[in-house]
Amino acid sequence: MKGNLVLNLACALFVAVAASTADEVRIPASEPIQELNIGEDTTGEELVYETESDQGSLLQSIQQNSTSTDTPIDENWRDIWTHQPVCTSYLSEFNSLLCVYTNATFSQGRGISIFTTPKIAAEFAALLPFHDDEILQKRGINSAEGSGLWTAKALPGKGIGMVAKRDLQRGELITAYTPYLISHAENVLSVQEREKFLQIALSQLPAASQEHFLDLAKYYYELSVVVQDVVKANTFQMDMGGRMHLLVVPEASRYNHACAPNAQYYIEPGILTHFVHAVRPIAKDEEITITYSTPYHPYSVRQNYLLEAFRFTCTCSRCAKGEDTDQSLVEIHDLQQSLGNWGADSTASVKQAERLVKVYLEEEFDGFLDFAYGHAALTYNSVGSARGTVKYAALAAEAAALKYGPASKDVRTWMDLAERPMEHSSWRRRKNVVVVSDGDGDSD
Ligand SMILES: *[C@@H]1O[C@H](CO)[C@@H](O)[C@H](O)[C@H]1NC(C)=O
Ligand SMILES: *[C@@H]1O[C@H](CO)[C@@H](O)[C@H](O)[C@H]1NC(C)=O
Repeated sequence: MKGNLVLNLACALFVAVAASTADEVRIPASEPIQELNIGEDTTGEELVYETESDQGSLLQSIQQNSTSTDTPIDENWRDIWTHQPVCTSYLSEFNSLLCVYTNATFSQGRGISIFTTPKIAAEFAALLPFHDDEILQKRGINSAEGSGLWTAKALPGKGIGMVAKRDLQRGELITAYTPYLISHAENVLSVQEREKFLQIALSQLPAASQEHFLDLAKYYYELSVVVQDVVKANTFQMDMGGRMHLLVVPEASRYNHACAPNAQYYIEPGILTHFVHAVRPIAKDEEITITYSTPYHPYSVRQNYLLEAFRFTCTCSRCAKGEDTDQSLVEIHDLQQSLGNWGADSTASVKQAERLVKVYLEEEFDGFLDFAYGHAALTYNSVGSARGTVKYAALAAEAAALKYGPASKDVRTWMDLAERPMEHSSWRRRKNVVVVSDGDGDSD
């Protein structure tokens, strides 16, 4: 019963965030990780890949099992791919096939394998990194491990984690890497069939990349579905051709979870890159974290989700405080609901907006400040205080750039608001609301 209440609260919070702003300004909220359907129909003993020889023979076995079958496919495939595409039979659910596409020389021999439809593969193939060999290098993407900023190392009780090698500032780029494997999310193939194609995808990558991939954490530790096992435990998501794709980016998999992380990630589909930036100052030797769950869920919901989806018990600083931190989530929820009410009965005030920003900062939600700053910008604008709007919209744009990327729609939206507050639909929309002289942005 209590669990239900908590869950309802979490859902309400989520909906409130998604629907809380005026007209075209919609603040998106997303669950980062999608379940991959494996486990039910697999059998086998638990297997742990501990020794190098285990892994060597595993690689061999995968290579032996991955024999290509001939399939009619775009005859120009050699322009982009180093291996002949290997395809499933026709799948009526997709009105298409799914095929494995590999470019083993991609990005100075890092390699990339993609399991998707021929149509979407063509979209991938059109992306710049497949044509301009230097674009990734020029932006510091896929640079040698460590790169002076971070190191992956064993941490007490947490397995491997990422640690800062020097002090980092908010906004600093920490890692930028392309995936080894991209797989169309689907529940059409059987687990065994999917595994067969994903193993082909893996086997066509350079040996070093295969080893790096198989070295990652697993969920089931089942040899017969090892590639899906790694995907399950390490997946990020990206939309391509309107379809969800799962990504494995080994360097990015080394970040451990925190409910109020000191770093944020986003994926820039156009250059197939997973970026991580610091969202607050990180001291030398401090662990660098990202979040695997939404920070807005109450303690028990987060605990259960992380245990279910990733098989670990959350021990981050927020989880260590347990349910004590839930009260601030309720306050955030109430404030966002109030600030998101654009009806005639709205009691939204700049005082509430300033309070929201304060709670976000106190709770160390530095990675999610675009929500708080965005609410503040809209609230100031709604009472006709352009100065407050400009200040907070600029902050929201900066925060959104760390969370969604500088080219994202959100950044553009907040920058537009900062540049032309009076042209936005929220301008003086709550002109009957009394301006509270509180905070430093409302002296208009
Ligand atoms: C390769 O195929 C053999 C025989 O079908 C099977 O026993 C083995 O588990 C397979 N290896 C992998 C890694 O799937
Ligand atoms: C593979 O990707 C690289 C970019 O890293 C590109 O230069 C090359 O033409 C692509 N195709 C083949 C067949 O190598």
